Amino acid sequence: MKNYLAGGVNSPIPIPTHYPSDIIGGNSPYVINKNGDKYIDLWMGYGALLFGHSDPEIVETIQKNIKNGWLFSYQTYLEKELSNIIHNIIPSAERVRFATTGSDAVAYSIRVSKAYTGREKVLSIIGGYHGVHEGMIPSAGTSNSLCLDLIPFNNVRIVKEKLKNKDYACFLLEPILANSGCTPPQKNYLKEIRKICNETNTVLIFDEIVIGFRISINGAQGFYGVTPDLSLFSKAIAGGLPLSVVCGKKKIMENFIPNGDVFFAGTFNANPLSLSVSKTIINKLQNGSLYLKNEELGNDLRKYITEQINNLKLPACVQGISSMLTIAFGCYNFKRGIKLESCDNKAYCFFIEEMAKRRILLPPLPTETIFLSPVHERVLDDIKTAIKQSLETVKNEYYK
Ligand SMILES: Cc1ncc(COP(=O)(O)O)c(C=O)c1O
Repeated sequence: MKNYLAGGVNSPIPIPTHYPSDIIGGNSPYVINKNGDKYIDLWMGYGALLFGHSDPEIVETIQKNIKNGWLFSYQTYLEKELSNIIHNIIPSAERVRFATTGSDAVAYSIRVSKAYTGREKVLSIIGGYHGVHEGMIPSAGTSNSLCLDLIPFNNVRIVKEKLKNKDYACFLLEPILANSGCTPPQKNYLKEIRKICNETNTVLIFDEIVIGFRISINGAQGFYGVTPDLSLFSKAIAGGLPLSVVCGKKKIMENFIPNGDVFFAGTFNANPLSLSVSKTIINKLQNGSLYLKNEELGNDLRKYITEQINNLKLPACVQGISSMLTIAFGCYNFKRGIKLESCDNKAYCFFIEEMAKRRILLPPLPTETIFLSPVHERVLDDIKTAIKQSLETVKNEYYK
């Protein structure tokens, strides 16, 4: 069929040669193309699909709720109910707002931080990703109006140095640098930056859009015991339906109109179908079994890949936490995150093509994270076999 998509795709990432471009469905660990070919999916909706594709309880929730209608303009009961639930599980959530995408949530959090502090500058992290809005990502056609300053992850001294003049509105970061090698914070890093933000009245924003609900029902903030001023959630919170959350301290959040003067609106915000799925997901997470299983699967796979890399003496490493991991070629450690320019992209691309030939799909960007789910348990041996064979081919053909 002729493809009228601009550039042939609907994203900035070209489709690797052996990847399908005609997905019609997904079930458990698989995505399925038009021919009926099944591929094991290790990208899992950019991490949104905590329970795999077409989880039966989520399907049931959608089927039940869609009958009641799906867009109302008026406040819904579910909005209030879910704000209550989030208030009870997320330490920073004194007040809550629902938006639609992660990028929206980031934009609102920066806007309200600027209004609250009366400052313009924004501090963030090299290798982080915070969405598509103006100034957040280098792109032709943007006006560069955001005063964004980027510093390396896991370096307290630089944060202190940057914030000492008290002229930054906020420090926006992923507490685990999921978009750059799935890099965890070093011991005390989050506690230290919390202290510095307190001392300099800088709004500390945790972007938990990827990691929120992946390592704990209380977010990374609950997991690490550090409460930011504002927090952002999306992806896993609504299992792949569009929903994002901005939550945080009452004194900052109450600056949104109508109590304050910061604009926050959107036709699809607080989408009732997404909220109903979110309620189901949070319920499913309450007993903690997903986190135990994810920890087990992640540790097992990281250990296995490390063994294969060592056996083959490959210049590569694997890093991550719980259900998340990143494989990087051309470097041996990346405690401040991986940069595209400092690892061997070509080796990664070679590797993922080998995996795709074996019907296993990894994120096509080397900085992106592999996301596991309990649904991968039954195909873990297939994943391991494919990794072993693909790494051997990388060794024999790429590094020959
Ligand atoms: C940490 C983080 N923040 C923000 C965003 C933007 O979210 P969205 O793509 O829903 O706009 C992303 C997207 O991947 C992300 O990973």
